[in-house]
Amino acid sequence: MSTGQPYLRVEHVSKHFGAVQALDDVSFEVHPGEVVALLGDNGAGKSTLIKIISGTFGPSAGTLVFDGRPTRLESPADAKALGVETVYQDLSLCPNVDTVANFFMGREKTRKVLGVNVLDEPGMQAETEQALRDLGTHIPDVRTTVEHLSGGQRQAIELCRFVHWGGKLVLLDEPFAALGVEQTRRGLEMIQRIKEQGVAVIVITHNVLHAFHVADRAIVMRHGRVTGERRLGNATAEEIVALITGELAA
Ligand SMILES: Nc1ncnc2c1ncn2[C@@H]1O[C@H](COP(=O)(O)OP(=O)(O)OP(=O)(O)O)[C@@H](O)[C@H]1O
Ligand SMILES: [Mg+2]
Repeated sequence: MSTGQPYLRVEHVSKHFGAVQALDDVSFEVHPGEVVALLGDNGAGKSTLIKIISGTFGPSAGTLVFDGRPTRLESPADAKALGVETVYQDLSLCPNVDTVANFFMGREKTRKVLGVNVLDEPGMQAETEQALRDLGTHIPDVRTTVEHLSGGQRQAIELCRFVHWGGKLVLLDEPFAALGVEQTRRGLEMIQRIKEQGVAVIVITHNVLHAFHVADRAIVMRHGRVTGERRLGNATAEEIVALITGELAA
């Protein structure tokens, strides 16, 4: 794996909501081109951790270090500006326009026709199709409005768009929970391709087999703490499950 600087270091992060201690002194790091699976039983604190990294809310204590710089995120926009994208199924694409328009939302290309700026539709379409091809995604018609595409296709478009615009870290909170077998397989492949582009990925999953399929490392949480961290190349599924259930202490 990458030996350089981690893209993100989470240092001693805690979070409480009133009396509930959702995170307790969590530290780990993730490198460019590395996939980290975040595992743990319901209520372990996984989504809370993802929300802190995505700028949804701040930690009660501790620090996030992006590219070596300690950073205070005031909002999801701050995280986005650093190249952090959170993918929730169906949520962030505009359903009533097509794939091309979604791809270029806020970044539209124009060209001059008779001295007048017009949208460069053919150029944007070609670039969108190329970007999708590069990540092995096939959308039958990039001019179909997104509302007619499947959940898995929308997820794929979102991830391609992110990689195309130079994203650095993708956060996926149970991305396959609502997907069928074939779409899940495609989703796992897509994560592999995103990784090959040098993007860091943190994926929350309850499926230990998915973690082994796609991740380099697993971080297991329990009651708000990291109870184990394993390279998946030399761990067993039984060991990971035992960490999740608490039968095996770190
Ligand atoms: N906004 C909030 N207000 C109060 N308590 C919260 C809030 N968000 C999370 N919690 C609590 O923090 C703890 C961790 O929740 P979190 O959603 O991070 O768990 P999780 O690991 O994502 O679980 P799951 O696998 O069920 O999605 C839980 O006890 C939860 O009730
Ligand atoms: Mg959750």
